[in-house]
Amino acid sequence: MDEFEAQFDATIAADQRVEPRDWMPEAYRRTLIRQIAQHAHSEIIGMQPEGNWILRAPSLRRKSILLAKVQDEAGHGMYLYAAAETLGVDREELTEKLIDGKQKYSSIFNYPTLSYADIGVIGWLVDGAAICNQVPLCRCSYGPYARAMIRICKEESFHQRQGYELLLAMVNGTDRQREMVQESVNRFWWPSLMMFGPPDDDSPNSAQSMEWGIKRHTNDELRQRFVDMSVPQAKALGVTFPDPELVWNEERQAHDYGEPDWDEFKAVIAGSGPANAQRVAHRRRAHENGAWVREAARAYAEKQDARKAV
Ligand code: ACO
Repeated sequence: MDEFEAQFDATIAADQRVEPRDWMPEAYRRTLIRQIAQHAHSEIIGMQPEGNWILRAPSLRRKSILLAKVQDEAGHGMYLYAAAETLGVDREELTEKLIDGKQKYSSIFNYPTLSYADIGVIGWLVDGAAICNQVPLCRCSYGPYARAMIRICKEESFHQRQGYELLLAMVNGTDRQREMVQESVNRFWWPSLMMFGPPDDDSPNSAQSMEWGIKRHTNDELRQRFVDMSVPQAKALGVTFPDPELVWNEERQAHDYGEPDWDEFKAVIAGSGPANAQRVAHRRRAHENGAWVREAARAYAEKQDARKAV
């Protein structure tokens, strides 16, 4: 083992942060690029299902809340691409990989938003799951990712609360509104559980990522935490989860729950979910339509540089 590797191992063992200029094993760098890029893409693609409802939000107040939330997701994507760039990749290259289907984004965003109740349920369950998964990432061993996550988590917890507040308004409304909320929960519950990734015994990256302090908990640990956190919230809203096996286990002091459909999960991450083709095509169109903006920004920067050089 050389001196650099020993220094890296000591940093991880002491639970300190690895910074961009520090030496790091190539596999550590590759794992971080994979995870951070996938995370950034999820934030950007995640704007689409909610963006679908901006024009149809039922009041000016709801519209401005949704608009602000979708803008926040764009900001999260930007911090995360910036964190990935500290590892020596370029965001243009990452975007190309996303639209060519070579890099993944979260499975959850491949499900359509069919009713306005989905906006509340996404805030409550999807952002709730995201927070559960992401709070431990604030202690990730890679400094720029950990620091980006602090701000992102603060904003995500605000998103979660706005979703819950929207649902509270709906469940205190008419029977039709209560039905809409329940119908949306029925569609989003299982895909939300899948956000945490495959079960631990089928998660090829977990062990190494935990050893490096990139991940702090396994996929199943976080999924369990999310189930336990969501059950009392569902009770308060007066909705149920579509899982007949969901029951409190006194001995484990945790809820038992049914098995998500892992074949569906695999199909969705392989590109055949209900909205994969639409999401990627939309992202590709936006990227191509924005080519003139990137070109103009580049030309302006070159002009500024030339002026400075004179
Ligand atoms: N959606 C899409 N792909 C997934 C998902 C998911 N929900 N869960 C796991 N995968 C992929 C992994 O990326 C990996 O594929 P790859 O090796 O080709 O990259 C494969 O399935 C096997 O999974 P794991 O070995 O468990 O992968 P990993 O250790 O990376 O754990 C996890 C997956 C938990 C999602 C992790 O990457 C993570 O915590 N990422 C950061 C959070 C994030 O990306 N959130 C995005 C959604 S939340 C939001 O934006 C609102």
